[in-house]
Amino acid sequence: MAQTQDYDLGPNTFPRGWFMVADAASVTSMPRAERFFGQDLVLYRGQSGTAYMVDAYCPHMGTHLAKNTTSYVIQDKIHVEGDSIRCPYHAWRFGPDGRCDQIPYFNGPIPAAARIKSWTVVERYGAIFAWHDAEGGEPDFDLPTLPEWDDPSYVRWIFDELGVLPCHQKEIVDNIADVAHLGPTHGGPCEYFHNEIDGVVARQKQGAPHRSLAPGQMLETDTWYTGPGVLVSYFNDGDSVMFITHTPVEDGSVRAWHGLLWRSPNAVATPQDAETARLYQAGSLAALAQDFEIWANKRACVSPLVVPGDGAFGKVRIWYQQFFHPRALAGEFQAKANGFHAVRGMPPHNQRVA
Ligand code: FES
Ligand SMILES: [Fe+2]
Repeated sequence: MAQTQDYDLGPNTFPRGWFMVADAASVTSMPRAERFFGQDLVLYRGQSGTAYMVDAYCPHMGTHLAKNTTSYVIQDKIHVEGDSIRCPYHAWRFGPDGRCDQIPYFNGPIPAAARIKSWTVVERYGAIFAWHDAEGGEPDFDLPTLPEWDDPSYVRWIFDELGVLPCHQKEIVDNIADVAHLGPTHGGPCEYFHNEIDGVVARQKQGAPHRSLAPGQMLETDTWYTGPGVLVSYFNDGDSVMFITHTPVEDGSVRAWHGLLWRSPNAVATPQDAETARLYQAGSLAALAQDFEIWANKRACVSPLVVPGDGAFGKVRIWYQQFFHPRALAGEFQAKANGFHAVRGMPPHNQRVA
């Protein structure tokens, strides 16, 4: 299993950015153990309804805050109180900022070290996203804006949980430049294709008659990463909006989700439209499964053997490296990666997008 160091991506094992950590519907007032970024974590929803992600281990004596079913803290349902979480062992309680706010058997000043890391988390588009930054900084870019999520003519996605893939997410990210697989893998040989890179955004525009998703018609897609782990793809100017997110679990494995917003013909989507949307999402998932089967079984590609006609893998790699380096250096990678990248022998899309 190749790791960040093998790909020579940068000094940080895990990239900086927003990452999906849960389907929002699955986060409840029962704290749940998770693992991302090589760390044990706990997700829970406070009584205000806000979701939190905290480091898993209690600073008192190292108890896992979620892996317990028998303590009376759990049985008496005082595990989450307000928006605080209580340890099952000696019942220390930690507030939403991670600071211990109660030691039930000690009234003195609470030691400053009695705290857990509470991650920067947002709930959006039916998902919980966490900001990961090895330097501990605040977010310096936002998640993509999806007005369709709040448009009643669209049917919202219900996430497909794709599980954990035993490959580094670099293998998935390469796909944004991979013009030459679209025909053989997906039955969509491109009639035009190019990439555009601008700061933290890496974009792909392509059009192809697509054997499975749009038989007999053109499927034109406008697809972009906002940061290293969140991808949006507009199909035919927003008839559907595909969402793929992937989050490192360990150094060399990645967990992914997929969803599809579908534009109904009605001003307010009907229950019948919702059923149709599920079918479209299943079609989109089937296309993604064609990639997944490759990724799940391939060996690592540390450096592709590129020929003219392959996409701009080198530029995408430089773009991706910015997230593995200190934030202060990101601009240097962006300056080298930014721009309009066409493929030899392939017309680009005729309209440039900002
Ligand atoms: S180990 Fe958590 S309160 Fe003691
Ligand atoms: Fe693909």
